[in-house]
Amino acid sequence: MTGKVRVELGPRSYFIHIGHGLMSRLGELVREAIPDLTRLLVVADAGAATWGEAALRALREAGLAAEVTTVPGGERCKTLAVAAAVWEACLDARLDRRSAIVAVGGGAAGDLAGFVAATYQRGIAFVQVPTTLLAMVDASVGGKVAINLPRAKNMVGAFHQPRLVVADLSTLSTLPDREYRSGLAEVVKHGMIRDRGLFQLLETEAQAVLDRDPEVMAGVVERNCRIKGAVVSADEREGGFRTVLNLGHTVGHAVEALAGRLERDGGPGDDGLLHGECVAIGLVAAARLSARSGVLAQPDLPERLETLLRRFGLPVRLPPGVDPAAVEAAMAYDKKATGGQLRWVLPVRIGQVQVTPYVLPEDVRAVLEELRS
Ligand SMILES: NC(=O)c1ccc[n+]([C@@H]2O[C@H](COP(=O)([O-])OP(=O)(O)OC[C@H]3O[C@@H](n4cnc5c(N)ncnc54)[C@H](O)[C@@H]3O)[C@@H](O)[C@H]2O)c1
Ligand SMILES: [Zn+2]
Repeated sequence: MTGKVRVELGPRSYFIHIGHGLMSRLGELVREAIPDLTRLLVVADAGAATWGEAALRALREAGLAAEVTTVPGGERCKTLAVAAAVWEACLDARLDRRSAIVAVGGGAAGDLAGFVAATYQRGIAFVQVPTTLLAMVDASVGGKVAINLPRAKNMVGAFHQPRLVVADLSTLSTLPDREYRSGLAEVVKHGMIRDRGLFQLLETEAQAVLDRDPEVMAGVVERNCRIKGAVVSADEREGGFRTVLNLGHTVGHAVEALAGRLERDGGPGDDGLLHGECVAIGLVAAARLSARSGVLAQPDLPERLETLLRRFGLPVRLPPGVDPAAVEAAMAYDKKATGGQLRWVLPVRIGQVQVTPYVLPEDVRAVLEELRS
């Protein structure tokens, strides 16, 4: 089963292709999406090196002039030093204004490669080949690209839409279980925001989803790309509506700042929480806060949400040692850093959310207290 989702953005519109074994068709799909192409550079995530090689092979077999450069897997690649190395690799590969960069890997490698594509020669074409569930349903769609500063994530970046996204579900076969489950948190989030049917499907097909059933997951990823694509079409540069995608991220980001993997050194063996795990906790917080604030119109939502997240092996309480007061302080810091008011995204019912700044601090405190483990 293969699916195709179009992200409508006028002259910057593009297709997301979703299916098993799509990598072998990468050359053809790239040619179709970028007809006047000269050369390509594959930016391969070291953690997904076999898929980077498969992409390179497919491009060359289609008669395209392609080179490859490898970047460290995960957050460690989103640095100025790695960006500089990839800019140099672009020069070595003799990329010009009609060339393209192909990112093969997780969301981090995609953000870095996209940032390089947005800046090299003031912007060249860019193709996303996501190899994690999170990158397929979230990071590869929407054109936000960035690197980190030592003290702040995603601080330097651009809006640079890909010309094509190819989500080959076969690449998920090598993804560690914990990374896969972490991606499921964003999938649950999308259902909560805009797709009651998706949420129900996750509830009834939970085992098939956990087993990475090819048919079920092709449908799930496609529905997610439709949701993210539609939100991005409506508000490409996050002027307003795109904020709904932040459901679960207000508390989620604060937990990530305190207990996330990236705050340590990102090396193997780190026991910090993954992004999706922090989002799962944030989703639970948003649901409870919605109930306390009188926004919630579906009383069984918080419990159904928690049951589903638990089923997916995701955390639904603050990690031990993370104090509710510290989470509050981290949220206040986030607010200051982004120069504004916190805009809470609260679920109204499954499939519908409301954005509001009007949330009482005592309600936030009470919810965080409830989530203390
Ligand atoms: N641009 C956006 O709109 C957006 C949205 C959400 C997240 N993000 C970014 O995405 C990043 C998180 O992405 P992620 O969850 O994909 O994590 P990740 O990119 O950090 O990858 C996780 C790990 O999996 C490895 N990996 C990748 N594909 C694999 C495969 N098929 N098999 C085995 N290992 C594989 C990577 O090497 C890495 O070690 C963050 O940097 C976040 O800021 C961006
Ligand atoms: Zn997220």
